[in-house]
Amino acid sequence: MEWIFSQEELPATAESFWQHYKEQRIFTLEGPMGAGKTTFVKALCAARGVEDATASPTFSIINEYAFTEDGQQHSIYHLDLYRLKDEEEAIAAGVEDTLYRDHAISFIEWPDIISDLLPTDTVRLQLSVLPDKKRVLRAG
Ligand SMILES: Nc1ncnc2c1ncn2[C@@H]1O[C@H](COP(=O)(O)OP(=O)(O)O)[C@@H](O)[C@H]1O
Ligand SMILES: [Mg+2]
Repeated sequence: MEWIFSQEELPATAESFWQHYKEQRIFTLEGPMGAGKTTFVKALCAARGVEDATASPTFSIINEYAFTEDGQQHSIYHLDLYRLKDEEEAIAAGVEDTLYRDHAISFIEWPDIISDLLPTDTVRLQLSVLPDKKRVLRAG
């Protein structure tokens, strides 16, 4: 699966992404600094009805965004493991609890240290910048 999109095309891309990944819960998200990872997660949050997808002002490893769907509370977690050393530190930070919570969807940046914790149906996403500044998102 592949999407190519400009900043203006983000909302439509996010809609299409969710149509494709309705049942998936855990995604890794890789790509260089400035690729647009944070921007993309915010667009995905907005498409599900998250009202305020601003990250917490202080640096945090796990940001949670809540939305309601069919009368049920759900959360999208954005995990940035860049500053963590190993799996033990990740577990201490609450990563495992987040991954296996009900009604939770997770996007994980810098997932290598927790590769043993990830379920086999984890969707692996790669984001990169094209010469014309559009972004390409590849899955699989
Ligand atoms: N689809 C896109 N098309 C063009 N520019 C984008 C797109 N997505 C993000 N950007 C721009 O790229 C810059 C970096 O985005 P950011 O989400 O902070 O990257 P990352 O989290 O991967 O480091 C921002 O200035 C943002 O406006
Ligand atoms: Mg970022």
